[in-house]
Amino acid sequence: MNDQPAKKSNKGKFISFEGGEGGGKSTQLKLLAIALQESDIDVLETREPGGSPDAELIRTLLVEGETDRWDAQTETLLHYAARRDHLNKVILPALNKGQWVLTDRYADSTMAYQGYGHGVSKKAIHGFYQFIAGNKQPDLTIILDLPAAEGLARADMRANEKAIKIQQKEDRYERMGLEFHSRLRDGFLDIARKNKKRCMVIDATKSIEEIQTNVRKLVFKRFRLAADE
Ligand code: TMP
Repeated sequence: MNDQPAKKSNKGKFISFEGGEGGGKSTQLKLLAIALQESDIDVLETREPGGSPDAELIRTLLVEGETDRWDAQTETLLHYAARRDHLNKVILPALNKGQWVLTDRYADSTMAYQGYGHGVSKKAIHGFYQFIAGNKQPDLTIILDLPAAEGLARADMRANEKAIKIQQKEDRYERMGLEFHSRLRDGFLDIARKNKKRCMVIDATKSIEEIQTNVRKLVFKRFRLAADE
């Protein structure tokens, strides 16, 4: 219970969802958005790479095509070009209007995929972040964690169900192999250890309902919102 309902808050909160493939970030983000809206919070749902019209164009370059289409440095720069546009045109204006921004992936994905996964200098990645965003950080980052093999199997099943592979071919990263995905899972856990105040790890091997219960508890407690149950 709390004494500061969200309605009285005039500053938006910035929440990122992170993790490897198949952890259910998009589903959990949508369910959290519904819960927040039920608490009279104005929510903006967005994603990376993408989230603004021009960043979505860059997304296509990143998520389609051969796995070796870009070298790791070029790939990092493309993610950062997209992020800068998204931040300036969508995220910051929304936060300034008092909206809560929920993003499906943000900068920790670059550290995990390009840094821990592809071996790009972590110092350079930190530098790019500061260059495009200064000290602005999410207020909370929720990392949905599950073993890489399980996540890849889930992502594959989902893609087949929706026939995404035939129509959209947004599977460039999924094709990068188990070792790559295991490295980035460890990377996300390391990022969480190094950013204990901002990052919370949630077990994503559980059911959608159980995960959502944990996500809501965490968010409602962190931001002192009145729980509806
Ligand atoms: P999505 O499948 O979650 O929409 O994300 C598209 C892919 O982009 C996903 O496989 C992770 C990858 N990615 C990076 O490699 N670096 C980044 O900075 C971001 C935001 C995503």
